[in-house]
Amino acid sequence: MTVTTPSELIHHTVLLDEAIDALNIQGARINGVYVDGTFGRGGHSRKVLSQLGPQGRLIAFDKDPYAIANAEQILDPRFSIVHESFADMHTALSDLGIDRVDGVLMDLGISSPQVDDAERGFSFRNDGPLDMRMDTTRGISAAEWLAHEDEQKIREVIENYGEERFAFQIAKAIVARRASESISSTRQLAELVAHAVKTREKGKDPATRTFQAIRIFINKELEDLEIGLVAAYESLAPEARMAIISFHSLEDRIVKQFFASKVKVAQPDRRLPIREADLPKPHMRLISRMKPTEQEVLRNARARSAIMRVAERIGAS
Ligand SMILES: C[S@@+](CC[C@H](N)C(=O)[O-])C[C@H]1O[C@@H](n2cnc3c(N)ncnc32)[C@H](O)[C@@H]1O
Repeated sequence: MTVTTPSELIHHTVLLDEAIDALNIQGARINGVYVDGTFGRGGHSRKVLSQLGPQGRLIAFDKDPYAIANAEQILDPRFSIVHESFADMHTALSDLGIDRVDGVLMDLGISSPQVDDAERGFSFRNDGPLDMRMDTTRGISAAEWLAHEDEQKIREVIENYGEERFAFQIAKAIVARRASESISSTRQLAELVAHAVKTREKGKDPATRTFQAIRIFINKELEDLEIGLVAAYESLAPEARMAIISFHSLEDRIVKQFFASKVKVAQPDRRLPIREADLPKPHMRLISRMKPTEQEVLRNARARSAIMRVAERIGAS
């Protein structure tokens, strides 16, 4: 498959230096193996490569064939690109003969080229086919899903993934509209939602929450994140780090709770005669939680909701 993206569509990488610093690519680790779970346009990947030694390796993943086409332009023997979800990291790494990695980065969500290219159907601002798939080679588009799904399920998706108060009204309007015409363009959906949403949030298009919700559902973003975090953790060598950048509260909550589950381990009753050395130990320690600086947000408005959480694997295993 040949895919090209208009060259003016660029992605401004969020928390670039902070994410690379978080991976702690130093000492012997410069010749380690790193994973970029979300290649995008390779902003983080290229910087990781610039820090790696001659024996280092970077394995990058992306679901999007346009991202893969961009990655294939990197002709560096230390670099490999895999057209899979990071949720399938385990299998892909073992196919490459890798069982332990020295760091994993995930910069979640969608890239600017995905949103800015109207043909991808992610944007409520530019009219285009209502697609919203990151991986255009498989799965069903948002239009196909909305054409057949049960009203209750549409409502749940919009409510749960968009935290939208008017989910009931939006789902009802979608089902009423599709009886007379197919909802196949982003403009049709955005206009329909704007009618159903009765109050306005300052600085927010009324379609924002619905588009976010449908995108998360169509791309199984939260399921992939939950599986991907476990796969990344299990691949980490002792003292290796995971840095995860999220862009909304649903993602950040999953990352936060996952790290907490590895940091806090249930302790037995203190009155039991258990030696200190035999007490259960945490599996990870938290390194940092950070947001972009004001200057970064001024340069790149899409950075404003980003949060990066970093944790390090403890102990030999
Ligand atoms: C925010 S962009 C990453 C940008 C990248 N760090 C850069 O600097 O260019 C997110 C990318 O992750 C991809 N993506 C999202 N979820 C994914 C998943 N579960 N597996 C693989 N790629 C995913 C998207 O297709 C998109 O290209």
